[in-house]
Amino acid sequence: MDIKTGQMKSAGKSAKFREMKEGTAEDWAIIQGHYMEFASDVADRVLTHLKLLEGDFGGFPVCRLEHSLQTATRAHRDGRGERYVVMALLHDIGDTLGTYNHPDVAAAIIKPFVTEEEHWICQHHGAFQGYYFFHFLGMDKDIREQFRDSPYFDACAEFCEKYDQAAFDPDYDSEPLEFFEPMVRRVMAKPLSSMYVEDDAA
Ligand SMILES: [Fe+2]
Ligand SMILES: [Fe+2]
Repeated sequence: MDIKTGQMKSAGKSAKFREMKEGTAEDWAIIQGHYMEFASDVADRVLTHLKLLEGDFGGFPVCRLEHSLQTATRAHRDGRGERYVVMALLHDIGDTLGTYNHPDVAAAIIKPFVTEEEHWICQHHGAFQGYYFFHFLGMDKDIREQFRDSPYFDACAEFCEKYDQAAFDPDYDSEPLEFFEPMVRRVMAKPLSSMYVEDDAA
């Protein structure tokens, strides 16, 4: 559906149904127009939420936003592609709402916009990061071994070794969030896959 056409159709209008089963094509044209407009702003909503990590140290040497910027900067300077860098930037965005499962939150947000491997890295980075500290908390540092048979095991271990576990240096010259904002907007401008959006080949 054409975004501009959708916006014009939907401007100031609302669907008439009180139960979904009463819905009409006209109702859904209105809703679809609103949806496309709303979806086009997803990058800005994500960036706004990412800023909530600023100043949140939790005992670490750097705040969670600086850790995110540093992880992304290290990945970028190592020549990673834009989708990977955006994954690196957002990998801990779930710390606020997903206190007990933060990788799942980030993985869900980025899933439509990244490769299967990048999504897997994001979703499993918590277990792989444990390699560096779980033993200090009476836990199994090798908990990642349960994923040894995954084709993405090495990629996730590499993400943690090179970028995530390395991104707690207060003296590192991380790029500012503004540096990454255009990347986030480009990557989130169009999903690679989503049940709500037809792909170009359809
Ligand atoms: Fe994390
Ligand atoms: Fe992290």
